[in-house]
Amino acid sequence: MKSLKLAEKRSSVRAYKNKPLREEDLNALNLLLAHPPKFPGAEDIEFFFLKDGLNQSQWLHNLAGYNGIMIEAPHYYVLLSEDNPEAFKAVGYTGEWFILNALKQGIGSCWLEILDSDRVKSVAGIDSPKKAVAMIAVGYGQKEYQNSQFFSKTTKESLFSLAEMGYPDINTDHLGKEPVSYRKSITELIYMNEWGNAPAISDLEQMELHKALFYMRLAPSYENRQPWMFVSRGNHIDLAMKQFEGASPAVRAIDAGIAMLYMEVGLHDSGFPGEWHLSTEQPPADIPAGYDFEGQYIF
Ligand SMILES: Cc1cc2nc3c(=O)[nH]c(=O)nc-3n(C[C@H](O)[C@H](O)[C@H](O)COP(=O)(O)O)c2cc1C
Repeated sequence: MKSLKLAEKRSSVRAYKNKPLREEDLNALNLLLAHPPKFPGAEDIEFFFLKDGLNQSQWLHNLAGYNGIMIEAPHYYVLLSEDNPEAFKAVGYTGEWFILNALKQGIGSCWLEILDSDRVKSVAGIDSPKKAVAMIAVGYGQKEYQNSQFFSKTTKESLFSLAEMGYPDINTDHLGKEPVSYRKSITELIYMNEWGNAPAISDLEQMELHKALFYMRLAPSYENRQPWMFVSRGNHIDLAMKQFEGASPAVRAIDAGIAMLYMEVGLHDSGFPGEWHLSTEQPPADIPAGYDFEGQYIF
């Protein structure tokens, strides 16, 4: 599974070399953006390029990034879409597809939440009726921060050293003792046939879902909350996302779109056909309060 190797290499880059992307790398990114992936609404997402990131980041403080703390980077993309949850999912799916493909070129990146769409558009000189939903910082990562070193040795306690990097108020209560970029095990990601019916690894192996879930567990999410839960129901898989008051509707839907990308790539690589359908008439009755039903993967 080639995609698995790529996703294993992927981690958010928050410290960049102080040099712009080479011309050929920028061209490769432009080429990518000219051919968006197949997902409902993906072709309507705009990627607005901010070339002079190091200069512009100072104007973006308090407008983007956790707690308004910008990550300084040579360049940014501002992702713009219609103002509705389905479009935000397409932002998540397309943005993460972009990040994984940029990594193939050795380009590091990091998602950034946007706190004030109108002001980001005005500061960045973006003349579009669409909403500025998220940003992606891009550049060449500083060596010492590559491969998740930023988070890999941090535990909940030492996470507060993130204050040095500008994350004084980040809420870590949900993280337990694990490192921040820890990932749930595959049996924690999916129920079988009905909500609450957790599988054994052997069940997942028997259904040949284990490889897709190994891939899925590597998906990034807002504050690494991993809020997704799948329910396998024979001819389809439902996706529900745990609600979290601290995240905007846009961020929650981006997380859902990212989860859809990883699960789909994992299923395709495992030989399953199928695709995501974003809306159904009725959410499944067993999805409990506190979770939002986001869509169905139909085989
Ligand atoms: C929708 C979304 C918004 C994010 N916003 C920020 C942000 O504003 N600042 C930041 O440093 N990281 C941000 N991240 C990155 C996550 O913290 C990161 O993906 C997660 O902790 C997992 O770590 P990893 O990407 O290194 O695997 C965001 C991620 C997502 C999916």
